[in-house]
Amino acid sequence: MSTTRQAEVWAKIDGANSATNTVEENLDLYSQWAPSYDLDVTEMRPKGPAIVAKVLELIFGENKDALILDAGAGTGWVGKAIQKRGFTNLEALDGSQEMLNIANQKGIYKRSICGLLGPNRLDIESGILTQHNVQANLMILI
Ligand SMILES: C[S@@+](CC[C@H](N)C(=O)[O-])C[C@H]1O[C@@H](n2cnc3c(N)ncnc32)[C@H](O)[C@@H]1O
Repeated sequence: MSTTRQAEVWAKIDGANSATNTVEENLDLYSQWAPSYDLDVTEMRPKGPAIVAKVLELIFGENKDALILDAGAGTGWVGKAIQKRGFTNLEALDGSQEMLNIANQKGIYKRSICGLLGPNRLDIESGILTQHNVQANLMILI
């Protein structure tokens, strides 16, 4: 990957991660980024999704039906790797419909919700996973 190309992708990452962005500005940046997001992040972090998926397998073991809410699912870049590990019960939440539109084409999620993480009650099963609760059947992945 050329340094120019790296700089181009870092500029998008920095723009999306800027602490001064409002939520709306942030979602707008992701919506504009959606068409090239998978290519960009794969070039930068090719092994990232597989590492996340492996960690989930370490937590859940053979409980491949565990309900996983992929919060900030985006295009399903990480979600696809989780599915490839054999997990079958994934739901997506993201504030950008443009990102979710790409995720929805991949056949990963049983349900896809365009909504904001924040103070509002979400229409999802509630539960919590801690280190001491490895039998939990729900994980929220952010
Ligand atoms: C780093 S990106 C996507 C990460 C994704 N898990 C992947 O596989 O690459 C972060 C995502 O969070 C979403 N997002 C940012 N702020 C949000 C909020 N307040 N509520 C819901 N989604 C949000 C963005 O639209 C974006 O798709």
